Amino acid sequence: MKFKHVFLAVFLGTALVVAAFLFNRARPDHQVEQPTPEHVKATGKCAECHSRETGAVVHQFESSVHAKEGVTCLDCHQPADNQKKVDHRGFTIGETVTSKNCSTCHANEYDQYRRSRHAAPAWAAVKGRDAFTEEQLEYAKKYHPEAVDRPANKLAQMEGPGAIASGCGACHSIGRPNPDGSIGTCTECHSAHKASVRLARMPETCGQCHMGPDHSQLEIFKESKHGVLFNSQKAHMNLDADPKELTTKDMPVPTCSTCHMSGLEGNGVTHNVGKRLSWYLFSAVSEKRPNYQRGQDNMQQVCMECHAEDRIDTFYKEAETVVRTTNEKVKEMEQLMDGLREDGLLTPQPFDEMIEFIYFDLWHYYGRTAKHGAFMGGPDFVQWHGNYELLLHKVELKEMAHEIRAKAGEKDDEGDDEKKEEAE
Ligand code: HEC
Ligand code: HEC
Ligand code: HEC
Ligand code: HEC
Ligand code: HEC
Ligand code: HEC
Ligand code: HEC
Ligand code: HEC
Repeated sequence: MKFKHVFLAVFLGTALVVAAFLFNRARPDHQVEQPTPEHVKATGKCAECHSRETGAVVHQFESSVHAKEGVTCLDCHQPADNQKKVDHRGFTIGETVTSKNCSTCHANEYDQYRRSRHAAPAWAAVKGRDAFTEEQLEYAKKYHPEAVDRPANKLAQMEGPGAIASGCGACHSIGRPNPDGSIGTCTECHSAHKASVRLARMPETCGQCHMGPDHSQLEIFKESKHGVLFNSQKAHMNLDADPKELTTKDMPVPTCSTCHMSGLEGNGVTHNVGKRLSWYLFSAVSEKRPNYQRGQDNMQQVCMECHAEDRIDTFYKEAETVVRTTNEKVKEMEQLMDGLREDGLLTPQPFDEMIEFIYFDLWHYYGRTAKHGAFMGGPDFVQWHGNYELLLHKVELKEMAHEIRAKAGEKDDEGDDEKKEEAE
């Protein structure tokens, strides 16, 4: 009997030590260190004055998990490495708060995010390789070689700096390099002072950027059964649930974050939004991603927390058929455009001839929409905003190409006649 008790005590003791170790390892360093008295005092002073100057900031902060956990104003606003220091009412604060400040306590999230296309590739899509330091380029190239090592986008350059700053750049800034050497911003999805996971779980948050005819993810989601159910039930869901313990009871219906980022039922939160993808759907002609099978398994693991395997298999088979048939339609038109270019019937510059816009719309709007619709449950987008428009634009393109060739033929004939006259 005695031996049993000793054994039990030793066993429980060891288990407690291991559990405490695991628990501590999982939380940010900050929680282990206590904030210094200066920090605590600073928050009082910042908040006292700022509740008069910029009250909303203080109220947002007061209702955040950060305030509850004892994080202070200065914890985020103090200058991190390589940040410009500013004297401010007797305190030294950094010129801005970037992902570098967040990463001092959330290194894991920053590392995952930095490996994703939300980081450097998003900014490179507009500004190209020259926007980055050598070090940033080397890092990003390890994960997405072609997506960062590329020239600035031609269309953006044609439209000019004003259009880039308030247009392309305002969405693609999710991966803009910061003067301190870090990449991007965490507040696009969490906001600066609320640090909210509820906000990050709302489809409208992703929909700030993921909307419109070239990537209608928000519209597709709203049309899908998932979106309709979410809208009708969200008031009863536990949208503040701790990300490490999110269950199907908290959120029985998925949003963008559930499928792409959340750690539903112990699957593990990820800030690498590419981790559960298997195709490059945004491309004109979609190819499989290098980690095709792993990406698909990761996503299906999430579906399977709520669905039976057979249904998911069928769903993926049908969606992949849409990818293949869309690829065929786009490829045919791509060859038609290549043919015109090879025969010298188009200028080498992009976007200076009508037919180039029709071709761009064909894949960039309608091809993409059909593929995204098929994978996220939006039948109207597969059909009327997708395949129907694809067909229409194919007919239009063929007619335009025919006209261009006919006109060139007439010119050739005229040229031949002139030559004949000269010879005579
Ligand atoms: C005695 C009042 C006072 C105190 C104390 C104070 N601030 Fe301010 N702060 C201001 C005022 C006033 C502004 C300018 C607001 C405006 O432009 O309307 C400001 C602006 C700021 C800005 C924006 C700066 C910019 O140019 O974009 C930040 C960030 C900031 N304060 C953070 C802090 C932090 C963090 C603390 C505590 C360490 C703090 N403040 C303490 C009064 C104060
Ligand atoms: C979790 C980190 C974090 C904490 C904690 C925090 N801030 Fe901020 N704060 C930010 C970020 C991020 C921005 C946006 C920075 C930017 O755009 O350069 C910001 C911006 C501001 C601004 C400018 C707001 C504007 O819209 O012009 C003020 C003022 C400010 N913070 C004051 C405070 C005060 C006062 C506290 C404490 C009560 C505080 N902050 C706590 C991260 C934080
Ligand atoms: C001084 C350390 C520190 C800094 C700096 C910091 N955080 Fe936090 N953050 C914490 C702690 C502690 C928690 C609570 C424990 C946890 O959930 O990991 C937390 C929790 C969070 C959560 C989860 C909230 C929830 O509802 O579960 C988010 C999101 C978050 N932080 C975002 C940010 C962002 C974005 C920044 C930068 C603008 C930032 N944090 C800067 C310490 C920090
Ligand atoms: C409303 C926000 C928004 C605006 C404005 C915007 N984009 Fe995007 N862009 C996105 C999103 C979201 C994606 C991801 C689409 C996907 O993966 O399905 C994307 C994808 C892309 C891609 C394909 C991905 C890649 O890395 O090659 C390119 C290229 C691109 N955008 C360039 C631009 C340019 C250039 C402009 C301005 C002329 C622009 N975007 C304007 C949000 C935007
Ligand atoms: C501030 C704008 C913005 C917000 C907000 C945003 N995204 Fe994105 N997202 C982008 C851009 C830009 C790209 C394209 C990056 C590139 O060039 O490949 C992208 C790409 C993606 C991709 C494709 C990644 C890949 O590997 O091809 C996924 C998935 C994604 N986002 C999911 C989300 C989810 C889920 C949310 C909300 C929780 C969200 N995004 C919020 C701008 C945004
Ligand atoms: C594209 C949107 C998006 C961006 C950008 C983003 N997050 Fe998050 N983040 C989320 C979502 C969604 C969740 C919650 C997932 C869930 O449990 O549903 C989350 C959760 C978190 C959590 C809680 C994680 C946990 O396991 O408790 C922290 C901390 C956090 N984010 C920090 C950051 C930091 C730091 C950055 C910048 C490097 C960042 N986030 C950028 C969407 C984003
Ligand atoms: C039910 C799960 C689910 C929901 C909800 C969902 N998605 Fe998706 N999403 C997928 C699947 C599956 C794919 C295709 C995956 C693949 O490539 O294998 C996808 C693809 C994408 C892509 C395309 C990346 C590319 O290659 O072009 C983006 C971007 C994206 N989703 C963003 C979003 C946004 C934003 C929302 C919310 C408005 C959302 N998703 C809602 C499952 C979901
Ligand atoms: C958090 C739970 C959850 C996740 C994760 C989830 N779904 Fe669903 N899904 C639902 C619910 C709930 C319904 C509605 C079922 C009903 O009508 O009772 C649904 C419905 C569907 C439907 C039927 C649509 C219709 O029109 O009837 C399909 C197809 C579907 N989901 C596919 C997927 C795929 C594919 C994934 C993963 C990429 C996924 N789901 C992830 C909860 C989920």
